[in-house]
Amino acid sequence: MPKVTFYPSGKSGEVPDKKSVLEAAELLGLELAHECGGFATCSTCRVVVEAGGENLSEIEFDEENMLEVAELLPPHRLSCQARILGDVTVRIPGEATS
Ligand code: FES
Repeated sequence: MPKVTFYPSGKSGEVPDKKSVLEAAELLGLELAHECGGFATCSTCRVVVEAGGENLSEIEFDEENMLEVAELLPPHRLSCQARILGDVTVRIPGEATS
């Protein structure tokens, strides 16, 4: 199973293949905003990819559109849309460093 690591908490664990980054955060007990419920229309679930971006699913139209509207540049991804295909490390922006 792919390993996902979240900063700044440093929480890490293996999650089933093709889980979204948002689902992975929830499995690891992390709170991640997701105001629209995972429909790529709010951008509150944004994360910054620090490593393993190639191990995430391709950015599809809805995500690309929302990233553009929110003026989020790479390596930002919407955690509700990015599916985990291999090891990845992401940062949750705005979280206090612990
Ligand atoms: S939860 Fe709204 S865009 Fe991901």
